[in-house]
Amino acid sequence: MENQDKTYLKSELKNFWNKQACGTATIDSEKYSLQYFEEIEQHRYDLQPEIFNFAQFTRFHGKRILEVGVGAGTDFLQWVRAGAECYGIDLTPEAIDHVSRRLQLYGLEAKDLLVADAEDLPFVDNYFDAVYSWGVIHHSPNTIKALEEIIRVIKPGGEAKIMIYHRHSLLAFFFWIKHALLKFRPWKSIAWVLWNHMESIGTKGYTIKEFNEILSKYNNLSEYKVGTIYTYYDKLARFPKFMQWIAKVITAFTGREKIGWFLTIEFKKK
Ligand SMILES: C[S@@+](CC[C@H](N)C(=O)[O-])C[C@H]1O[C@@H](n2cnc3c(N)ncnc32)[C@H](O)[C@@H]1O
Repeated sequence: MENQDKTYLKSELKNFWNKQACGTATIDSEKYSLQYFEEIEQHRYDLQPEIFNFAQFTRFHGKRILEVGVGAGTDFLQWVRAGAECYGIDLTPEAIDHVSRRLQLYGLEAKDLLVADAEDLPFVDNYFDAVYSWGVIHHSPNTIKALEEIIRVIKPGGEAKIMIYHRHSLLAFFFWIKHALLKFRPWKSIAWVLWNHMESIGTKGYTIKEFNEILSKYNNLSEYKVGTIYTYYDKLARFPKFMQWIAKVITAFTGREKIGWFLTIEFKKK
């Protein structure tokens, strides 16, 4: 897995997300119409209301923000509405097209929106007050390089807010049941299942411990916090009913605190 050719993985990644911008698959309205964008927004925050609490958009009024991996741009819209000076990048023209048209439709403006790679950010060092990235860098072949790029472009005193997938989560475990156990290959790991079956090829999941260890290696970071959020996805709404019941029973024992699918990472740069 990890030794699959990174150029091949990057091109697969780009093709996958360029076919359809993230979060638009269930939307029936005419592409790029107002109704289309409003449905995307409604759907996203119905399922993931936790984003507001995590991102704290309005706290960044007047600040220079970079969003890495804007996708269809629903969170990016919130940064702009909050009065931040907004920069956004995504690997795919499809995403950047979505966000540009969306801003235009609402009469809003961003400072810059670019097709670019999280592993090679086209910005100078120490430039942003904050970098935000939701569900992105675990897809990139070199996640650590993307993290280091995020650290590089944050100003001293600035902060990062990142969400990636959590490997020790209930959802990852049920994904393993579905794609390994029930397919008679129980020797395959959860990491293998995420790599091969979770959205674009090469997706990784990390644990709280792993990411704390990763962050501890950088001596220019402070106040780092790694946690999980229990979300709609952890209720396994897209899995068969019997699995949802098993998940409920497991959650009754474990509690929701540590088993959420979303691994959240926050830190400041010294
Ligand atoms: C799961 S979607 C998330 C999009 C958006 N943040 C959201 O929450 O809806 C993943 C996005 O990350 C982008 N992406 C993945 N790897 C990237 C990279 N190396 N550089 C820039 N964008 C990347 C993809 O193109 C895709 O738009």
